[in-house]
Amino acid sequence: MVNNLRGHWESRYRQGDTPWDTRVTPPEVVQFWTDHPATPGSVALDIGCGAGTNVAYLASRGLFTIGCDLAGNALALGLERIRRDQAPLLPHVQFLQVDVTRLPLQNAQAVYILDIGCFHGLAFADRAAYVQGVIENLAPGGYYHLFAFDLRPETEWLPDKPPRGVGEDEIQIRFAPQLKIVEMIVGRPDRQACRWYLLQKQ
Ligand SMILES: C[S@@+](CC[C@H](N)C(=O)[O-])C[C@H]1O[C@@H](n2cnc3c(N)ncnc32)[C@H](O)[C@@H]1O
Repeated sequence: MVNNLRGHWESRYRQGDTPWDTRVTPPEVVQFWTDHPATPGSVALDIGCGAGTNVAYLASRGLFTIGCDLAGNALALGLERIRRDQAPLLPHVQFLQVDVTRLPLQNAQAVYILDIGCFHGLAFADRAAYVQGVIENLAPGGYYHLFAFDLRPETEWLPDKPPRGVGEDEIQIRFAPQLKIVEMIVGRPDRQACRWYLLQKQ
């Protein structure tokens, strides 16, 4: 299953079929870091980091940032861009080709974990393992910032495609009691209704 999934994402990056790869850090992330200046050298993770735009952004804010993605093509592109355009950031970033439902990190003590558009695409059966990885690797008081599509009503699910999206109250229920939602913003929908969630580890 993971191999099929990896093949899917590798081919999207190989073909440049990556409409999400805007190379712009979303204003919600910029606002967070304006409000919460980083302690230099603290750790951040970007899970499902794609071509690493936000890995580079977080490193530029003083965080040692680990970007995780299944697709080696995405990570290679990210590394190439940083080498070319932002080489001084290189000692502050690391890319790992891994499945976010089997993070090879334990107790990373991250002050911030970012996910833009990865969790909502996971199969429901894989989500508990992902949640465990986030909880285990976030420092007490640390933040988890998630952008996700809302789950479409069941009547709109396609027979040949697993449903994608996040159910009403799913985030609160899955991450409780270790993480609590401190902010939820209804996003400006493009393809699908979406939200930004900011959670904090208790
Ligand atoms: C919609 S893209 C978003 C990429 C990036 N966050 C961005 O905003 O540009 C979703 C990313 O999640 C990655 N992904 C999907 N499932 C994954 C998994 N199980 N483990 C690791 N990465 C995964 C894909 O390879 C892809 O790069």
